[in-house]
Amino acid sequence: MSSSMSAVVQHQFGGPQVLQVEQVPRPEPLPTEVLVRVHAAGVNPVDWKTRAGSGMAGMLGEPPFVLGWDVSGVVEQVGYGVTTLAPGDAVYGMPWFPRAAGGYAEYVTAPSRQFARKPSTVGHEQAAAVPLAALTAWQVLVDTARVEPGQRVLIHAAAGGVGHFAVQLAKHLGAWVIGTASARHHDWLTGLGADELIDYTSVRFEDTVRDVDVVMDLVGDGSDRTGTRSIGVLRPGGLLVEVPGLAPELAAAAQASGVRCSPFLVEPDGPALARIAGLIDDGTMSVEVQEVLPLAQAAAAHEHGETGRTRGKIVLHIAD
Ligand SMILES: NC(=O)c1ccc[n+]([C@@H]2O[C@H](COP(=O)([O-])OP(=O)(O)OC[C@H]3O[C@@H](n4cnc5c(N)ncnc54)[C@H](OP(=O)(O)O)[C@@H]3O)[C@@H](O)[C@H]2O)c1
Repeated sequence: MSSSMSAVVQHQFGGPQVLQVEQVPRPEPLPTEVLVRVHAAGVNPVDWKTRAGSGMAGMLGEPPFVLGWDVSGVVEQVGYGVTTLAPGDAVYGMPWFPRAAGGYAEYVTAPSRQFARKPSTVGHEQAAAVPLAALTAWQVLVDTARVEPGQRVLIHAAAGGVGHFAVQLAKHLGAWVIGTASARHHDWLTGLGADELIDYTSVRFEDTVRDVDVVMDLVGDGSDRTGTRSIGVLRPGGLLVEVPGLAPELAAAAQASGVRCSPFLVEPDGPALARIAGLIDDGTMSVEVQEVLPLAQAAAAHEHGETGRTRGKIVLHIAD
């Protein structure tokens, strides 16, 4: 095995053009870590936010660095003490977040328990689309909101990477699922389990929805004040989870209105990924990949994602 590998490196913050494929040293696994040969890497909004200097840029420090958290691949080597994975195991994960993981590369190393065995019914490209988005859905709906059967859940940006998993998971938890999405996504989202859909381009959601137990806001207050407008659709004591970030003014407005409000940041979680793989393999959840591009076209993947119109996910292909 060569001691170097291809990776998408950026040497400065900026537009998609700062993403360049270069040769860098291949990482070595420390004790309790695995070296994973990456077959595909998922692309997330946090990637392009960080590339431009916001997102997790504060955690990664100054460039150069390698972006990317979502990976699917095969264990190549295990560090001392790893007992639950072995070379040849197909795994997927979102390691290290919010520290750098270097997922846009041929190899990553990370703690073994931040990975899980990849869903066996899908390929690496689909599996790489899952971790960050589906963990967000899981950690918001299961761990934070503790959604119960019969509750009314409103998901903003239901057609996006996180949203399409959230719709399916909320349905699986027994909720009445309401989503906002433009009309072209409605038939597809109904098929995933949405009970009511609102075309946000022509209808103000607060004019048609009320008595909601949980709002999962994936749009954020920075766009058309979606978070602030969501306060009024919650029942007293209901919960608003402001996934793109919670401003103090919004938290204060929620409190003044008698509803709860929570910030959120996704965390690596191997056991939850194992549960999610089970839901994919038993047909409860599916993963939508809109586009697969080669690693060398990471810049194009960012350009496409930054339009904000993606249905499901965009993925980088790295190895067959
Ligand atoms: N805090 C965390 O840990 C965390 C974790 C994951 C994601 N996030 C953040 O959550 C946000 C969503 O992430 P994502 O991966 O799901 O994004 P994404 O896949 O890029 O979202 C794209 C979708 O957003 C929809 N959309 C855009 N504006 C909308 C609006 N005003 N109302 C309803 N739908 C709208 C689009 O639907 P149309 O085509 O119909 O316009 C498109 O399907 C991002 O800001 C991301 O950074 C945070």
